[in-house]
Amino acid sequence: MVSTVPPSIRTEAGAAGRQGQPFEAEADRTSPNRNLTPITTALDPEGRLTVGGCTLSDLARTYGTPLYVLDEATLRATCRAYREALEAAYPGPSLALYASKANSSLAISALVAEEGLGLDAVSAGELLTALRGGMPAERIVLHGNNKSREELELAVNQGVTVVVDNARDLELLAEIAPGRSEPVRLMLRFTPGIECHTHEYIRTGHLDSKFGFDPDQLEQVLRQLAQCPWARLDGLHAHIGSQIFELEPHRDLAGVMADALALARSLGHPCTDLNVGGGLGIRYVASDDPPSIQEWVAVVAGAVADACRERGLALPRLLCEPGRSLVATAGVTLYEVGSRKEIPGLRTYVAIDGGMSDNPRPITYQSRYTALLADRPTAVSEETVTVAGKHCESGDLLLKDIALPAIGSGDVLAVFATGAYNASMGSNYNRIPRPAAVLVHDGVAEVVQRREQPEDLLRYDVLPARFTPVP
Ligand code: LLP
Repeated sequence: MVSTVPPSIRTEAGAAGRQGQPFEAEADRTSPNRNLTPITTALDPEGRLTVGGCTLSDLARTYGTPLYVLDEATLRATCRAYREALEAAYPGPSLALYASKANSSLAISALVAEEGLGLDAVSAGELLTALRGGMPAERIVLHGNNKSREELELAVNQGVTVVVDNARDLELLAEIAPGRSEPVRLMLRFTPGIECHTHEYIRTGHLDSKFGFDPDQLEQVLRQLAQCPWARLDGLHAHIGSQIFELEPHRDLAGVMADALALARSLGHPCTDLNVGGGLGIRYVASDDPPSIQEWVAVVAGAVADACRERGLALPRLLCEPGRSLVATAGVTLYEVGSRKEIPGLRTYVAIDGGMSDNPRPITYQSRYTALLADRPTAVSEETVTVAGKHCESGDLLLKDIALPAIGSGDVLAVFATGAYNASMGSNYNRIPRPAAVLVHDGVAEVVQRREQPEDLLRYDVLPARFTPVP
């Protein structure tokens, strides 16, 4: 059985129940990825959960459910943590790029740009979102293992750096890029051959991966690129995986990348940048214990600096690409509880008004989450239930066997750490409209993504004239 009411949370809130007190006594404001809840989580005078100064059940009533809530203070604290840790730990220039696949929206792009970070996009959609959100093109990189001509053209025309992943990218770029006044800025992605312990679907650094050039191909590609006057190879990229709690693989990566950097520079490439990808894990349930942003950055920065010094290489600008650890903890999803099914001696299912279409992670990766009742967060757990989604799929279970106070229809359930890979991986399965998203700050909530309506889902359907439309 998994308790999703961690003792630390229950004790603090229960013991205190104090107004305006941090809900999590040990909240790490400098490294939000180590907390279960946003750093502003507190109780209002009635003992109801608040985030960003907004009472969660009031948000649910005002904006409807399911609702994605994003805490601006947590987002900004995380951006600053990466920026400041890099400045403190790395002796050369540095830039953290937000991996926008974790959660792409105009508001997040704008906020991250304002905090001085760059951004990693993997499609024309993410790229447009970043540019329209005000992210300067020179701080954006375009990734992808099968970029279309249109995506490459958009990136090149906008002055975005292209991360070359394979020979096809080079073929297309050779058609698009020549004849421009400036060479196109490129990075080269390769698989570093580093194993790490995370779900097999989100591992990318091992050799049997669809991303990037095999290390054996690296020298040949570097030689080929040296013959392309339209290209300027600014740097190298590798990414080993996601939701990683170990630091060792990141240390090993630095050595592998420094070797590749030495090779690239020996072949005449400027290679001023080294991009070590993302991957730092976060705390989804009480037993998770990820390193802090500061620890992760110190290891990465120290290892890159050491590896370059050992090889006599001038220090590159250090880039990293955090996604999950930058946005996950800022996000809370609110649901309203509906039906209930009790199977005596077996299990009690409690259904909420969302599920795998707004959070596909449990069904995809068996991911676990922490949840509390928004209006009774400190109440003693009385029953063990399985929180089920509303989709026509038996596996659509959001939280299996969790201990909660007596829960019934109309209750608002708050599920934490949903800011990453929830909205961005969501779908319209069963033609369920996508939730709205609100950004909360100092007691104010602003809609940053409008709720989809059932009518919106018909927008792209075309009914051939030979069918008689229903009036
Ligand atoms: N850079 C590259 C090239 C990546 O492929 C990724 C993630 C990142 C950066 C950001 O990694 P992060 O800091 O978020 O770990 N949907 C999965 C995660 C897939 C990650 C894909 N690539 C999940 O929900 O767990």
